[in-house]
Amino acid sequence: MKGIVLRAPGGLDRLELIDMPEPGAPGPGEMRVRLHASSLNYHDYGVVSGGMKAADGRIPMSDGAGVVEAVGQGVSEFAPGDHVVSCFFPHWQDGPPVVDNFKGVPGDGIDGYAREAVACPATWFTHAPRGYSHAEAATLTTAGLTAWRALVVNGGLKAGDVVLVLGTGGVSIFALQLAKLMGATVIATSSSDEKLERLRGMGADHVINYKQQPEWGRLAYDWTGGRGVDHVVEVGGPGTLPQSIAAVRVGGHISLIGVLTGRGGEVPTAALMARQARLQGLIVGNRRHQMDFVRAIESTGLKPVIDRSFALPQIADAFRHQEAGAHFGKICLEF
Ligand SMILES: NC(=O)c1ccc[n+]([C@@H]2O[C@H](COP(=O)([O-])OP(=O)(O)OC[C@H]3O[C@@H](n4cnc5c(N)ncnc54)[C@H](OP(=O)(O)O)[C@@H]3O)[C@@H](O)[C@H]2O)c1
Repeated sequence: MKGIVLRAPGGLDRLELIDMPEPGAPGPGEMRVRLHASSLNYHDYGVVSGGMKAADGRIPMSDGAGVVEAVGQGVSEFAPGDHVVSCFFPHWQDGPPVVDNFKGVPGDGIDGYAREAVACPATWFTHAPRGYSHAEAATLTTAGLTAWRALVVNGGLKAGDVVLVLGTGGVSIFALQLAKLMGATVIATSSSDEKLERLRGMGADHVINYKQQPEWGRLAYDWTGGRGVDHVVEVGGPGTLPQSIAAVRVGGHISLIGVLTGRGGEVPTAALMARQARLQGLIVGNRRHQMDFVRAIESTGLKPVIDRSFALPQIADAFRHQEAGAHFGKICLEF
């Protein structure tokens, strides 16, 4: 079978398509999955571009979706033919967070899903939503589940809430869709007027160009009539957090998810304190969250926005497309 490995020290030109041995018969508690799709995340970009310093020969990509081919002894949750999607934290099945690193994350600390098949514990996957293509399912592992956890699991999102989403990447578009499906009002930002129009077309109630309006957080606050937003899906990090704090309502919730503007910086602590807002760091979610999310997708009909798909050998081109920032929603690999 074919697969991709990343040669040290990383870089898009260090991704190699190679022949790999097919996984053998699944052992007790395991299953073999024929993989058909993955999707790109900023985290995967960090790995393949060399920033995350992955081991030489690492198989990249955290997200994987495909079909169960065989199950080992004792596996009753899945059967051959089932469509499945991988979990970001295979070792965090349920309950409160137990991890603060990426050592057990496929495509980073352990081998990921840029390959045609895998044999692993059955609990490393969940069922995919009924009616989803493999590419659609592959968008859920990282981006989809992060948005779900930020807004629903930790945010307690409810109809009538106001949600602020930043930019038009994978997490933010999922957050917009979830918020609208659940009856919330959405304010969305982008650097591109064209993308702002698309956000409006998807139901965003108010849009702001964050490049043209550096005080976008204050504008969002004003747009709510001075009440502020209930939830900020904060994917920018230090460069955007001050404006996210300016936007949040007293007692609101900011999910600190991303580091698009860098890994450290100044936080206006007094403003955060005055807003009595809850600032919560989070990394994706557990398997139980993913199962709940899949059920929600099946009952609401949510479909991810896929910007473009590439074939597995074109993985470097797919990451160049992401690097260029022209995408809207998810970029996928199909194989
Ligand atoms: N903690 C977690 O669990 C978790 C999970 C997934 C992702 N993340 C993090 O979340 C961030 C986004 O990930 P992703 O996979 O959704 O990325 P992505 O799909 O590559 O999205 C990037 C988009 O973010 C927007 N953006 C860039 N700089 C911005 C800024 N200064 N202000 C507002 N928007 C900006 C741009 O949108 P426009 O082109 O519209 O301007 C860009 O297209 C990354 O830092 C990633 O590491 C964290």
